[in-house]
Amino acid sequence: MKIAFGCDHAGIEIKDKLISFIKSLGNEVIDCGTDSAASCDYPDFALKVAENVALKKADKGILICGTGIGMSIAANKVKGIRAAVCWSKETAQLIAQHNNANVMCAGARFASVDDICSWIKIFFETNFETRHQKRIDKITQIEQQA
Ligand code: RB5
Repeated sequence: MKIAFGCDHAGIEIKDKLISFIKSLGNEVIDCGTDSAASCDYPDFALKVAENVALKKADKGILICGTGIGMSIAANKVKGIRAAVCWSKETAQLIAQHNNANVMCAGARFASVDDICSWIKIFFETNFETRHQKRIDKITQIEQQA
């Protein structure tokens, strides 16, 4: 798969390890920044990742900030994006299985890099369960009405 990756300064320390891990799983990575530890604005990177996924230049996205929350709020403003924060192996599975998330967000200030790697692997390997499609369609309808 092609994976768009983005983080802000809160994620910069673990960025290289996460990208290497994603590549080690056989994926190609589109690096959307940030590239330094300087304070920056997470919506800038959320937008880049979300656009790559929405325009189908990437299959999925990974966004890391302090909590994962700001990244998810920003990415979800882009049409077609279902960005979800996960904080455990189970939630990593459920955002794929139930929510058909196409962007996974996580918080570098609340999880170890090894935990986030394990969640990414689960997110990539878990399939959407189509019995939830009706709910996803309702989310899409809200997006079209807005
Ligand atoms: C940056 O300090 C922090 O606000 C950001 O990384 C993120 O946690 C926002 O949701």
